[in-house]
Amino acid sequence: MVYREVLEAAVLAPSGDNCQPWRFVIDGDVIRVFNIPDKDTSLFNLRQRASYVAHGALLENLTIAASAFGYTPDIVLFPDSNAPNLVAVVRMNKGNTTADPLYPWIPRRCTNRSRYKGGALTDNETNALLASADRVPAGKVVLTGSDQEKAEVANVIALNDQLIFENEYLHAFLYEHVRWNDREARELADGLDIKTLELAPPDSFAFPLLKSWPLVSFLKKFGVPRIIGGSARRLALSASAIGVVAVPGTGDTESISAGRLIERVWLEATKLDLSFQLMTGITLLMRRVLDRETENLSPQHVEQIKKAYGILASRFGIEDGSLFIMFRVGRSAPPSARSLRIALEQVVSQ
Ligand SMILES: Cc1cc2nc3c(=O)[nH]c(=O)nc-3n(C[C@H](O)[C@H](O)[C@H](O)COP(=O)(O)O)c2cc1C
Repeated sequence: MVYREVLEAAVLAPSGDNCQPWRFVIDGDVIRVFNIPDKDTSLFNLRQRASYVAHGALLENLTIAASAFGYTPDIVLFPDSNAPNLVAVVRMNKGNTTADPLYPWIPRRCTNRSRYKGGALTDNETNALLASADRVPAGKVVLTGSDQEKAEVANVIALNDQLIFENEYLHAFLYEHVRWNDREARELADGLDIKTLELAPPDSFAFPLLKSWPLVSFLKKFGVPRIIGGSARRLALSASAIGVVAVPGTGDTESISAGRLIERVWLEATKLDLSFQLMTGITLLMRRVLDRETENLSPQHVEQIKKAYGILASRFGIEDGSLFIMFRVGRSAPPSARSLRIALEQVVSQ
């Protein structure tokens, strides 16, 4: 396969619940990148924005890897209004490149959902993460520092996990994507390998039982979703910093830019030997509320999400309704497991 190394690096990009919503067609020196809308039907993916963030990360990996193999890719986004799933046409031009130093970190980037060890980031680490924004026009990276700021943001992160166990659609989507054992994880090569969830007792016992929506629905009365939110809150607080990447605007190309930026920050964190996890479900639900597309969310949840938006927007200085993606970063042991990818042969046609 031509461009194998470049595409192998590209598909190592993160995607919501590891859905991998992409497909490629290679034609001479042109690679067409398609979105597959059916891969992510979650409430988080309003008008494919979460999938476009994943495509942004994919295009950033592709660009970095191409530079390492002597290509300068020329990328045209959404080139055909009659083909809405055609995300990008990439022409691979040979020559005139300097290899991007982030290339070796692409295979090492991964989500780490374990508890981190706390402690502040050094100035050097902070500056390196913030500098990632220089490569994406108008993009910005904001990091929280103090315990008080982190606590405020961690409460919003807790709300996301609480909502997953209070909303049937969010709950169903999560459990559909869990891969419960090594065989299933290997065979499907997508979704969330249970080991990557880093569940510790008592959560590791409760999580399989909570697959049953009637049980979850019953336990709502006893405040169980709030308790689950509390676990997410503690994980967020264990980070050295909670941050966001933001790109002005809310459209398809801005979602791609946000994905490119988050990938650069994540690779930079990997290079610094820092652990990293996106905790951004809630900012994606905020898009629904801002765009008044709140079907399948209860009025009470809409109010809670609105209030949470106010907290994050003022904390991170993003009050114009722009898109933002949230993460935590810090120090920890390596993850227990890493997620897999569908073989290139299944997603590339030539
Ligand atoms: C738009 C988007 C949103 C995501 N949101 C979350 C999140 O809220 N929590 C989380 O743990 N991971 C989140 N992820 C990370 C994916 O679950 C992860 O990238 C995927 O499972 C592949 O694993 P990897 O990052 O280790 O390669 C998100 C990824 C994307 C692209």
